[in-house]
Amino acid sequence: MDRDEIICNCMEITRGEIIDAIKNNNLKTVDEVGDATEAGTVCGSCQDDIEEILKDVNA
Ligand code: FES
Repeated sequence: MDRDEIICNCMEITRGEIIDAIKNNNLKTVDEVGDATEAGTVCGSCQDDIEEILKDVNA
């Protein structure tokens, strides 16, 4: 797993930033990740990837 991979190109948010936000704030949904990090809040094309990360972290 590459923590430095950019998941949200619009906001330049990395996988590591998303994982940390989910863990630190106990996030459950793509909308909550958007509120916490701004990832997924522009074009929305990364929301499927965010959903996958949510599933992995909260598994
Ligand atoms: S790539 Fe994440 S909102 Fe556009």
